[in-house]
Amino acid sequence: MKLRKAKFSRSKAMELAPEFVDPIAVPRHVAIIMDGNGRWARARGLPRIAGHKQGAEAVRSTVRACSDLGISYLTIYAFSSENWKRPATEVDDLMGLLRLYIRRELVSLRGEGVRIQFIGDRSRLDIEINRLISESEENTKDNRGLIFTVALNYGGRQEILEAARVFAQNVRDGKLNPEDMNEQLFESYLQSNDMPDPDLLIRTSGEQRLSNFLLWQSAYTEFLFTSTLWPDFKREHLEQAVYEYQRRERRYGGSGN
Ligand code: IPE
Ligand code: IPE
Ligand code: MG
Repeated sequence: MKLRKAKFSRSKAMELAPEFVDPIAVPRHVAIIMDGNGRWARARGLPRIAGHKQGAEAVRSTVRACSDLGISYLTIYAFSSENWKRPATEVDDLMGLLRLYIRRELVSLRGEGVRIQFIGDRSRLDIEINRLISESEENTKDNRGLIFTVALNYGGRQEILEAARVFAQNVRDGKLNPEDMNEQLFESYLQSNDMPDPDLLIRTSGEQRLSNFLLWQSAYTEFLFTSTLWPDFKREHLEQAVYEYQRRERRYGGSGN
């Protein structure tokens, strides 16, 4: 796949973040575990929904910042398969916010050339959300800018199990043989099959775990953990993360330089 060139010149990059030195070597795919909304609200004596609302603002600005930096893919973890364990009121609040976000953002994302898509199990999401998801995917499918993927009711293990199930079915139907299986074929069964693996995965709020996000895809991803809470995450945090990423040496099992 072709690497999109950063939109800004070197001098513009320096202006954005003095230490951000290489606008060409930006990660192609950034994944984010947006965590800490609840703690952000609690620290202010506010209900958790207030943190989620502010978190939605951080999503807006991060999408724009990724486009400006010339990142090709942004994937965010919005709701995990395990988040249904939360109180029904919080789940309802999150779904309500999601509906609001899609309705409000769709027009601008469309105008900005962003292509939005969703991964995760849609069967448990309500009809209205399913409709909004399909509509936003359809309305932005020809956009050629940032590919913005929202992981909703997503679980890495569930995604892998589903891939195994469909492959087994294909074998049973006589379409494939067990020995046909290899990494490339397996990836074709994953929902992320049209994206490269994430180069950089950022998790906010100080937690250092994957929480069932992109398990297969993050085999060689660079992880960056920051104590910043998601609602406080700004363009400069993203730039800082990209800067740090550019200082890492990716070895993929080789001996390095
Ligand atoms: C992340 O913030 C948002 C979602 C998981 C939907 P949290 O709601 O997990 O915030 P904390 O971890 O309780 O602070
Ligand atoms: C991971 O955050 C899921 C999302 C950000 C959507 P959680 O807050 O749910 O993760 P745990 O429970 O702390 O591992
Ligand atoms: Mg959390």
